[in-house]
Amino acid sequence: MLHIEDLHAEVDGREILHGITLHIEPGETHVLMGPNGSGKSTLLMCIMGFDAYTVTKGSITFNGTDVTDMPVHERARMGMGIMFQRPPSIPGLKLGRMLEVIGPGKKPDERSAAVSRMNMQDFMGRDINLGFSGGEIKRSEILQMMIQDPSFIMLDEPESGVDLENIHLMGESISHLLQKHQKFVNRKNSGLVITHTGYILDYLDVDKGHVMINGEFKCHGNPREILKLIKDKGYNECLNCSKII
Ligand SMILES: Nc1ncnc2c1ncn2[C@@H]1O[C@H](COP(=O)(O)OP(=O)(O)O)[C@@H](O)[C@H]1O
Ligand SMILES: [Mg+2]
Repeated sequence: MLHIEDLHAEVDGREILHGITLHIEPGETHVLMGPNGSGKSTLLMCIMGFDAYTVTKGSITFNGTDVTDMPVHERARMGMGIMFQRPPSIPGLKLGRMLEVIGPGKKPDERSAAVSRMNMQDFMGRDINLGFSGGEIKRSEILQMMIQDPSFIMLDEPESGVDLENIHLMGESISHLLQKHQKFVNRKNSGLVITHTGYILDYLDVDKGHVMINGEFKCHGNPREILKLIKDKGYNECLNCSKII
């Protein structure tokens, strides 16, 4: 579904990604771990195609189409969706209106079911993210994703800033977005999820994990084993290891 080959990317004239290769097949969910500033969010922004991120070498292919130079809205139309780590506030645009625009095919009752599920009924008349708490922003982002209904779902630290009461709701909703309730062969949606804490692994059956350090992948393999290694020994161990576990 998503094939990234030897991707090099710059932000502000500085190379942040130094040759990333990543293949995600239909139905698969991969997690991305790594220390702060290693380039994880940059990779997601490049896949989505934001202007500030310049691909200088390599390619991104989505469902067989080379999207490396395609604008964001075309990638979104092809089925890519992203949940930002720190989304902006949008004064003047109500969340309720946004949901109508991004999910024109959704019936009003489907929309209100998703709104209730994410417990966002009181936010429909509010400007997007303006004065929302950290957890409310994350719930709003997931809700927008449910309505947009992309087939390739990118989540940037979905659990950060979410209180314990809502972490279960987030985990369950993400699991549903990624069709984890269906058998692997029937799943069409794929995902790439950045996680710092690994909490999300309690809710998601994840297929592969990758560790990014200084804009390069250092390790690939079983995400739970990678997380255990990081918790026990820190990311320094990954720097020295570069193996598949
Ligand atoms: N829009 C931007 N402008 C300038 N520098 C950026 C921008 N986005 C990311 N960077 C820089 O790229 C590096 C990687 O950042 P990021 O991808 O956010 O890392 P991570 O998500 O792994 O914490 C950092 O040094 C960060 O300051
Ligand atoms: Mg980040």
